[in-house]
Amino acid sequence: MITLKILTENRENEEFKGEPGLSIHVNAFGNKFLLDTGFTDLFLQNAKLMNLSLDDVEKIVITHGHNDHSGGITFLENKKTIIMHPNAYKERWSIRRADYAGFLIPREKLLKKHTVIETKEHLLIHNNCYYLGEIPMTVDIEKDGNYATTLDHKITEIDVTEDDSGVAITTDKGLFIMTGCGHRGICNTIEYAKKVTGQNTVYGVLGGFHLREVEPQKEKIDYTINYFKENNIKELYLGHCIKDEVIEYFENNLKDVTIHRLAAGKEFNIDVEPLNN
Ligand SMILES: [Fe+2]
Ligand SMILES: [Fe+2]
Repeated sequence: MITLKILTENRENEEFKGEPGLSIHVNAFGNKFLLDTGFTDLFLQNAKLMNLSLDDVEKIVITHGHNDHSGGITFLENKKTIIMHPNAYKERWSIRRADYAGFLIPREKLLKKHTVIETKEHLLIHNNCYYLGEIPMTVDIEKDGNYATTLDHKITEIDVTEDDSGVAITTDKGLFIMTGCGHRGICNTIEYAKKVTGQNTVYGVLGGFHLREVEPQKEKIDYTINYFKENNIKELYLGHCIKDEVIEYFENNLKDVTIHRLAAGKEFNIDVEPLNN
């Protein structure tokens, strides 16, 4: 069983507040880790509300350095092992709002408090659980990524977000792949997860694919839908930077896929067992 507890998400839910950000507590066959920490300390507040202790979580994967995924690190009280791409520390600014969107903690400060594994390479973080490292751009329609930030205030130099990564879990039913924003493209991410793990069937995908509107991204979204069909993907967990109209479009065009919507405080149990290599 893989259990996901959504600590922070753009959508609030019942008594759980939301924020523009993502943080998920993952329990994959008894191996616990966090995927991102959201923007503020909301992930800790919501964990408390869920009666969920983070004391036995040692590893935290930061999918990329955008502050809505990494900002919560500031509020961690205990020492953790943080796994991320070395370029996650980059300064960058939002294209839409022109405000600062980069890492919020100086590297020296982070290294003083936590163990930080900075790697461009993929890494086995627990049995069956792989941090993917830097994702190559191999799928034609995604060669320009789904970028959201620039490297300067003046919005001239696009940030190719080379630190954008995710986690793949090998299971008896196929890969379960999780990404934060999917800035490197969700098909690129899945293709690389297959390469890293050696498992070619894909059971489920979670994200954050940075698809905000059907138009003008229809061609890319239709390609993605076909890619999901060709890969016989069974479950999608959609939220964060996928707008509701895009989720509805996926629902209308992927009738054979079970689509779950992420929201703060939600819990999902995925009925899979570890792949025995
Ligand atoms: Fe994001
Ligand atoms: Fe992002």
